[in-house]
Amino acid sequence: MQKRKIIAFLGSPRPRGNTDTLAECVLEGAREVGCETQSFALRALKVHPCTGCGYCWKKGKPCIFEDDGTRLYDAMARSDVFLFATPVYWYGPTAIMKAFIDRLVVFNKPEGRPLVKGKAALLISAWEERGMKAVEPMVRLFELSFEYLELRFEGNLLLDELGPKDAAIERPGALESARALGRSLV
Ligand SMILES: Cc1cc2nc3c(=O)[nH]c(=O)nc-3n(C[C@H](O)[C@H](O)[C@H](O)COP(=O)(O)O)c2cc1C
Repeated sequence: MQKRKIIAFLGSPRPRGNTDTLAECVLEGAREVGCETQSFALRALKVHPCTGCGYCWKKGKPCIFEDDGTRLYDAMARSDVFLFATPVYWYGPTAIMKAFIDRLVVFNKPEGRPLVKGKAALLISAWEERGMKAVEPMVRLFELSFEYLELRFEGNLLLDELGPKDAAIERPGALESARALGRSLV
């Protein structure tokens, strides 16, 4: 059977925080069942915000900004599953994750769409407040965006009451849920 390739986009500005930890556990689980994995920490990359210039709709280069966004497009084209990991920041994704999502507009053009269409997408999030209310607007954002890009929403891991940086590490159940999600990606 073909090995599935999973690519994770880490959207927290905080290295080794909760969403990094959870995403790494998902990838660990995925590797246990033979998937190939790769991750990109968006905080370490230059992804210029989309300016809506329309350049990507013209023939030639995918974006007027020749930055790390182009590497991410290539990696997405070569992968089967996209894992978006972002904490809740003011009831939405972080600014670096949102900037990356905006740049996915390149996949709306006719030559771009086949590079992602039908692929699987997952969402991982952690936040401080209790309950799901804080994450609901962001889940909707991802649901609609995945639908628009014709991705399949394959699962999520949404964990509340994870405020401090090490909170996920101190919740073994959360780490095991993340590994189980990874193993389900076989
Ligand atoms: C700028 C900022 C905005 C935040 N907004 C929210 C929020 O709206 N609701 C919430 O429950 N937690 C909020 N948090 C807390 C983070 O979601 C929480 O600390 C999370 O664990 C961070 O994930 P990380 O460790 O992967 O960076 C916010 C934190 C920051 C720094």
